[in-house]
Amino acid sequence: MSNKEAVAMTESYPMKGGDGTYSYTKNSTYQQESANYAQEMIDEAIAKKLDIKSLISNSSTLCIADLGCSVGPNTFIAMQNVLEAMEKKCLSQSNASKAPKFQVFFNDHAANDFNALFASLPHDRQYFAAGVPGSFHGRLFPESSLHFVYSSTALQWLSKLPEELLDKNSRAWNKGRIYYTSASEEVANAYAAQFTKDMKNFLNARAKEIVAGGMMVVLMPGLSDDIHYSQRSAGLLIDFIGSTLMDMVNEGLVSEAQVDSFNIPVYCPSPKEIARLVEENGCFSIERMQMMDSRSKRNAPLVDAHTFIMHLRAAMEGVFTKHFGSEIVGEMFDRVSQKSAEVSCLLDKGYNERERNQVFFVLKHK
Ligand SMILES: C[S@@+](CC[C@H](N)C(=O)[O-])C[C@H]1O[C@@H](n2cnc3c(N)ncnc32)[C@H](O)[C@@H]1O
Repeated sequence: MSNKEAVAMTESYPMKGGDGTYSYTKNSTYQQESANYAQEMIDEAIAKKLDIKSLISNSSTLCIADLGCSVGPNTFIAMQNVLEAMEKKCLSQSNASKAPKFQVFFNDHAANDFNALFASLPHDRQYFAAGVPGSFHGRLFPESSLHFVYSSTALQWLSKLPEELLDKNSRAWNKGRIYYTSASEEVANAYAAQFTKDMKNFLNARAKEIVAGGMMVVLMPGLSDDIHYSQRSAGLLIDFIGSTLMDMVNEGLVSEAQVDSFNIPVYCPSPKEIARLVEENGCFSIERMQMMDSRSKRNAPLVDAHTFIMHLRAAMEGVFTKHFGSEIVGEMFDRVSQKSAEVSCLLDKGYNERERNQVFFVLKHK
């Protein structure tokens, strides 16, 4: 790794660890549903597009990485599925005596609850497991050392907030709001520009780490090309939390400056934006790119407000608490939960997005 590629310094806001009421472990079934839904497409990508025979001709151990793995159980289910699909492909392409070994790298920020993750590693796993702490916006692995990279619901986290959001002299100053869904185009553009920088760094790092012919599969919250950012339902919920904070400002519980200086560092790109960045990078071919439904069954009930709030809390409590402290954040989420009927109406407003709010893409290293 050269000096220029040194470890990326990224803000980290790990998911709620442990296994309590508000933990990620207990509140990540939507992410699990998305991953389940994507599994068929991942199996298909491995079956049709991954040339395992040529990968194992150069290495007897196939290396898989989950970038932004959090604390489980989703990562274990996903890694097991990927491994089984690769084994199946191996059997169909070569004979069983040549079955490779698998090494799985679990990556997340160093502040992630790796203890919880390691303590719950499946006992019957058929792979060597290792934790890799650090930001995926920079280099994490040696050159040409990975054969398959998976990342689910993680790349939406920005490495940092665009500075203009806090600059009173900028048109992108996000006064009185904590997100871009209800904000001006300037604010949304500042978020998009930061995502562009982060995604470029991510692709550059992976281009070095993944072997030729290796594959990367990403699943993340996204926005259909034809839908305006102001309609995204998860964004509307974050705005609702912002307005709850403003109520608390009016009651003197939080200062206005505290709200003005806070924004959620998450961006949900469209397939078009991602495709442009992959093409600019030039090292990967796009094998598949589409918006998908986050519900595993098309006729499954739409997300209910209470569960949605609990999921958002498990994923975002850390980022709020770092800025406002746990007492304010506890009160804020209690107030939001008490207004779940209002949240439900808001979610209905973003109806289309509730059906197709994830972007799924498969890249192959040229
Ligand atoms: C919503 S969780 C998803 C966890 C898991 N992949 C799943 O699908 O359930 C997002 C995870 O991405 C991690 N993350 C965010 N930005 C990251 C970065 N730059 N480098 C490594 N991990 C990151 C967070 O710490 C968090 O654990």
